[in-house]
Amino acid sequence: MQSLSACIFDLDGVIVDTAKYHFLAWKRLASEWGFDFTLEQNEQLKGVSRMRSLEILLSIGGITLDEDSKQKAAARKNEWYVEYISNMDESELLPGAKSLLIEVKEQGLMTALGSASKNATLILDRTHITKYFDAIVDGIKASKAKPDPEVFLRCASELHVPPQECIVFEDAKAGIEAAIQAGMRSIGVGSPEILGIANRVVSSLAEVKVQDLLTL
Ligand code: BG6
Ligand code: MG
Repeated sequence: MQSLSACIFDLDGVIVDTAKYHFLAWKRLASEWGFDFTLEQNEQLKGVSRMRSLEILLSIGGITLDEDSKQKAAARKNEWYVEYISNMDESELLPGAKSLLIEVKEQGLMTALGSASKNATLILDRTHITKYFDAIVDGIKASKAKPDPEVFLRCASELHVPPQECIVFEDAKAGIEAAIQAGMRSIGVGSPEILGIANRVVSSLAEVKVQDLLTL
């Protein structure tokens, strides 16, 4: 069994329920373009970068845009998204998130945030949990989107621990794939149908005990 030194947490959909705000903002764009965008289709956008999400949305709607219009569309989506998240507070932390962060630190393990979002620090600030992280790697620091392992490998390197001693918590299939590529263990937070390739799948962080992680 590998020893455990650090827990790396995705943000959107693992620590905070921002997935619904991303969905609402993309849906608003789709509806302006005259097509419906479903929750099922939204699964494809989880964990992937803003521009890649836009490409997927455009292909769902059968729409082609030039580069300048793509940048403008992504900027509008982000304006709406930031408007939605700017009123967030601690009440939007997902069940078990804060207590797990505290327990992980109490057990002497390190913590990192590994998120594709360029809005990550704003969200951490609004929900008052910045202080629980020893390292923060977001979409501004890392350029390659999950399933590329860059975000998680940077977390390990900032914490000075080998990837094999890290466990990743993720709600997106692309994120679990990134963890596997990084040589890390993973816990899927969500449905086993989507996240079955993780070492373990839980429906929320409230189900996780640090003791169980030590034997994973
Ligand atoms: C990820 C989300 O955490 O961040 C994706 O799961 C999102 O849905 C991505 O597209 C980028 O976020 P942002 O805030 O930089 O647009
Ligand atoms: Mg996520």
